[in-house]
Amino acid sequence: MAAQNIYILGIESSCDDTAAAVLHNGRILSNVVATQEIHKKYGGVVPELASRAHQQNIVPVIHEALNQAGIKKEQLSAIAFTRGPGLMGSLLVGTSFAKSMALGLNIPLLDINHMQAHILAHFIDEEGFEKPKFPFLALTISGGHTQIVKVSDYFEMEVIGQTLDDAVGEAFDKSAKILGLPYPGGPLIDKNAQKGDPKAFDFPKPKVGDLDFSFSGLKTSILYFVQKKLKEDPQFIEENLEDICASIQHTIIKILMDKLKKAVKQTGITQIAIAGGVSANSGIRKTLKEAEQKYQWQTYVPKFEYTTDNAAMIAIAGHFKLLTGEYASMSTTAKARIKM
Ligand code: KG4
Ligand code: ZN
Repeated sequence: MAAQNIYILGIESSCDDTAAAVLHNGRILSNVVATQEIHKKYGGVVPELASRAHQQNIVPVIHEALNQAGIKKEQLSAIAFTRGPGLMGSLLVGTSFAKSMALGLNIPLLDINHMQAHILAHFIDEEGFEKPKFPFLALTISGGHTQIVKVSDYFEMEVIGQTLDDAVGEAFDKSAKILGLPYPGGPLIDKNAQKGDPKAFDFPKPKVGDLDFSFSGLKTSILYFVQKKLKEDPQFIEENLEDICASIQHTIIKILMDKLKKAVKQTGITQIAIAGGVSANSGIRKTLKEAEQKYQWQTYVPKFEYTTDNAAMIAIAGHFKLLTGEYASMSTTAKARIKM
């Protein structure tokens, strides 16, 4: 299809956000996200409840996205949806809806890999945001993934390093839980860290080979540290929350940056993009920008709205897929695990 008047509806339902967005020739017209509040009281995402909430939200969210974009569904050129990776029950809702809608409108259906989409969010036309040039390295950091990806083209991505256990987002969320902060704790660690001393407490960095990561040991050492301190002073967390959060965040950023430096050395690629929910973290954003001067890298930090789960990133991935003519068939099924 020629790149002219292309309207893409993106649908995202892989975890606990029901999202829809409309993209017109690479520009976002609407980007609607319904975040499911129900999981807060359980301290994490409950898959069955997520699936049910997606069923309730999907129609109003898509309606709202079309309304805000000011277009009718008949004007859509194609529908892009998250096929995986994610929670099966959640993925099924978006997948079934996208299939029925594309069938009803008789337009192409485009299946999108959620992790590729996090990276491709960098290619949405946005004023003040430059797009990375191929090849570049992407550090994808979310609640479910931590990867260093060599991106050679829109859909040519190779994972060259990844976590062996917890994802970075989990490290943030589990540390927050230890400190008594509600789910998801990542943004709260970030907020408290801004007022704390990052060198106040020292946490051990994992020793894992090559470009891989490990975060489960950090979580355990934070737990033991906090338990020990609480025995000495029951008010330890309240009195030191900002310093503890700043120190945890500092350790996590150091782990990420050390591996990125190693990846740059191995590949010779100095264009670095970050993607995924944790790329919303103010400390990571700042550190990456500073790396431009410090290491002569060219760095790309996504617009804040495109960091945590959203459908704008699904729509832009769909845009490039439509141009390649790679349509999904009506027998496509959701997939909880898919490789890059
Ligand atoms: O990409 P995402 O929305 O969902 C997944 O695909 O997993 O990422 C969610 C993760 C959560 O772990 C959340 O705590 C983390 O991103 N997160 C943050 C921040 N904002 C979101 N972590 C640290 N600092 C933040 N500001
Ligand atoms: Zn995500």
